[in-house]
Amino acid sequence: MSSEYPEVFARFYDLIYQNMRDGVDNEFFFEQIRQSGGKILEAGVGTGRFFMDALGMGTDIYGLDISEPMINVLIEKLDAEHAHRISIQSILDFEFDFHFDLVIAPFRVMMHLTEKEEQLEAINNVYRHLKPGGKFIFDAFIPDLKQLITGLENQTDFEAEYEPGKKLTRTVSTRPELINQLINITFEFEWEEEEGKKTERWDTSLRFFFRYELEHLIERSMFDKYEIWGDYKGNKLAEGSKEFIVICQKT
Ligand SMILES: C[S@@+](CC[C@H](N)C(=O)[O-])C[C@H]1O[C@@H](n2cnc3c(N)ncnc32)[C@H](O)[C@@H]1O
Repeated sequence: MSSEYPEVFARFYDLIYQNMRDGVDNEFFFEQIRQSGGKILEAGVGTGRFFMDALGMGTDIYGLDISEPMINVLIEKLDAEHAHRISIQSILDFEFDFHFDLVIAPFRVMMHLTEKEEQLEAINNVYRHLKPGGKFIFDAFIPDLKQLITGLENQTDFEAEYEPGKKLTRTVSTRPELINQLINITFEFEWEEEEGKKTERWDTSLRFFFRYELEHLIERSMFDKYEIWGDYKGNKLAEGSKEFIVICQKT
């Protein structure tokens, strides 16, 4: 299983997720970016779904990611004067010789870390790069218990023209692995090119969390102040919540 997003995923990422995701988490993360007003890092910046607009707002934002294909898509959009803001590094052991007021890891970045020691390493590495009072914000989905039992079988989650007259279809299958708290995911892309139909497949895994595990994890880390919300609007965790929004603060 690979956690490094491949070229096919990077190529179609904006088309798929601007549709699927922007309405869900955009307002929340942009509000955090606006409120911060200082130096910001997006860990797992991807193709720049947040980064590009944050930069457009005049923010002093940096981005890192382990996937070269995702970073290449972002670099294509960026004026050369800002290229120094982007680097290929991991959240586990990234290095900067300055500190941040806010570090965000939006849209499941932390769920790519499958081992507890690497989760802790990432959180502590972020902590070391924050200024006092600085915040680290990440999200994780709350597992859907029905799906944890049954998984998904070839579900089409995206179907549209990616260029006039050329269709893209993405299907997703999941095989939950309960003992390791993993959801093993297969994405299958099928799209039309001049020379005919193309298909590609990517297998990856996401590590799912439960509430008290997340609390224990943060409490084991260097952070001594945190909150976990149940959605992007700031509501408390409750029966029926679908998200963990984890907000850690360096005191
Ligand atoms: C679902 S994408 C989110 C991208 C972007 N934050 C967004 O909201 O659109 C998750 C990103 O996390 C990156 N990622 C996974 N593991 C990482 C790691 N250890 N360090 C940094 N980035 C990582 C992936 O390459 C991918 O670009």
